[in-house]
Amino acid sequence: MNNGTPKKRVAVLISGRGSNMSALIEAAKQADYPAEIVAVIANKADAGGLETARAQGIPAHAIAHRDYASKHDHEAAVSEALHAAKADIICLAGYMRIISPEFVRQWEGKMLNIHPSLLPLFRGLHTHDQALEAGVRVHGCTVHFVTEGMDEGPIIAQAAVPVKTGDTPEMLAERVLPVEHETYACALALVATGKAVMKGGRTVFSD
Ligand code: GAR
Repeated sequence: MNNGTPKKRVAVLISGRGSNMSALIEAAKQADYPAEIVAVIANKADAGGLETARAQGIPAHAIAHRDYASKHDHEAAVSEALHAAKADIICLAGYMRIISPEFVRQWEGKMLNIHPSLLPLFRGLHTHDQALEAGVRVHGCTVHFVTEGMDEGPIIAQAAVPVKTGDTPEMLAERVLPVEHETYACALALVATGKAVMKGGRTVFSD
């Protein structure tokens, strides 16, 4: 950063195409962005985001959970890669694995996730179908700290989009995705600068 504070080193964990990962990589190209993306890790060897990251010159590793006998062994391999990359912060970006409580505790306050709904509404999968089923008129995305309960951690940032008459889950997903990209870059900057910290199970904001 131009004020002399070192940038936080961020590892992004993905399972698929990695459009949120790409958004973080783009944001981190700005000289005054407080974080740099130092590694991308996918739990699937064919995750499209791996090639995208490599094309941007970012070290990208496939650590396929199928190659490991247990969740514990897989997470140990992921931890090794994170420590080798000297990561300060983890961003889950479409990482479709349930993470063990031990791993969550190791990264408490330093692991973020993006979820395609306005939490606490619509946890889990198929959030756009859930939103249409519930008949809400606004929908959106949430970036939160990762805690042991799935999609339950303290909220860092949210953004909303309208639900329009005749929307399909695909149309909603398309409307929410670019908003996810902006929101994630914004939330990561808040955490990387220490303006949003997790304390006592809540997000505390300063400045
Ligand atoms: C994104 O919509 C993200 O919010 C969602 O998966 C998609 C990944 O897309 N994450 C979850 O549903 C996590 N529960 P991407 O690979 O293009 O970023």
